[in-house]
Amino acid sequence: MYDFEIAAADKPTLYRDLTAALESLVAGEPDPIANMANASALIMENLPDLNWAGFYRNIGGELVLGPFQGRAACIRIPFGKGVCGAAAQTLQVQRVEDVHAFPGHIACDAASASELVVPIVRNGELLAVLDLDSPSKARFDAEDEAGCVALGEVLARVL
Ligand code: SME
Repeated sequence: MYDFEIAAADKPTLYRDLTAALESLVAGEPDPIANMANASALIMENLPDLNWAGFYRNIGGELVLGPFQGRAACIRIPFGKGVCGAAAQTLQVQRVEDVHAFPGHIACDAASASELVVPIVRNGELLAVLDLDSPSKARFDAEDEAGCVALGEVLARVL
């Protein structure tokens, strides 16, 4: 059983503890699916106000649904399409306050209002994107972005 001490005093503390928990969860485990599955569970349990947390993998230049927590989602997303596809194409974090105002946004769950997508890159190559959705507009701020980039850096070593 895994039971992590994750303090939610403030966002930097929350993400520091979450990053440490993720590091210990993936330590010594080379299987990327297992690591993404545990990462999505850890994120969904510990970050408030999410309705979806998970991964799309880069399979031959197309994003394919990976391990996640939340409602069933679209399976394949071309690079350049929607928020995840924009992150995959540009290798830039996409932090979207209102997904309904984002051109080409793919509505997998009508409840989603804001979204944060972090590309996970190793040696210049896109491995996957980490996708977080919230039912609240502007749920993600710069501290969430920095915290999730740190989670992505841990994952880049083990995907
Ligand atoms: N809304 C995303 C699609 C993936 S789901 O949110 C799980 C997008 O536009 O990329």
